Amino acid sequence: MLRLQGNLVGLRILKKSDAEVFCPLVADRRVARYLSRLPQPYHIEDAQAWVKTTRQQARRRESFSFGIEGQREKAIVGMISLMEIKWEDGVAELGYWVGRPYWRRGYAYEAVHFMLRFAFEELKLYRVFAQVLETNKASSNLLRKAGFVPEGISRKSRFQNGRRLDMVSFGLLRPEFRPSKS
Ligand SMILES: CC(C)(COP(=O)(O)OP(=O)(O)OC[C@H]1O[C@@H](n2cnc3c(N)ncnc32)[C@H](O)[C@@H]1OP(=O)(O)O)[C@@H](O)C(=O)NCCC(=O)NCCS
Repeated sequence: MLRLQGNLVGLRILKKSDAEVFCPLVADRRVARYLSRLPQPYHIEDAQAWVKTTRQQARRRESFSFGIEGQREKAIVGMISLMEIKWEDGVAELGYWVGRPYWRRGYAYEAVHFMLRFAFEELKLYRVFAQVLETNKASSNLLRKAGFVPEGISRKSRFQNGRRLDMVSFGLLRPEFRPSKS
């Protein structure tokens, strides 16, 4: 298998003991508010169940979720997933988060790069897409930097804190992917 290790982060399968490390990171409101599939409030039992689910889904080749391990921290600093893979179409949805103490260090960018190599080179998918809340500038900038193209808007598809928000779809196709990081 492709080696998913860079200078800043490595991607790896989750293990049981990771749950207590990543639980407080993802439960942080500044991270959780952008994750539509996350149970809220988020408890340690949710984190433990997530570790199990990711291992089952990977075995069944339905979704692949990896912990983002900081090379310096030697611990999980975030998560990245290729979800709901449609093998017949060669399409999957990308999702990710990085814990607040580790923002703006280039961790998500490197993790996305490795996940895209995994998607296009290892799994031979053709299209990866992501859906981002209109208010999530960090994520849309990250996707643009990684080569994704904005494709359309699902109007008012989230209701959050009394506001109806648009979701923006971004997509990247295999021939558009530049495997070099810079
Ligand atoms: C989006 C997120 C994953 C970015 O993680 P990160 O490790 O801080 O990102 P990086 O340091 O790798 O930054 C890569 C690029 O993303 C963009 N970016 C990241 N944070 C940003 C911010 N606060 N404001 C504007 N752009 C930002 C920039 O283009 C940056 O490149 P640059 O450093 O050359 O300017 C992180 O903010 C996060 O987990 N947010 C909450 C969860 C979330 O939004 N998940 C995605 C749901 S669609």
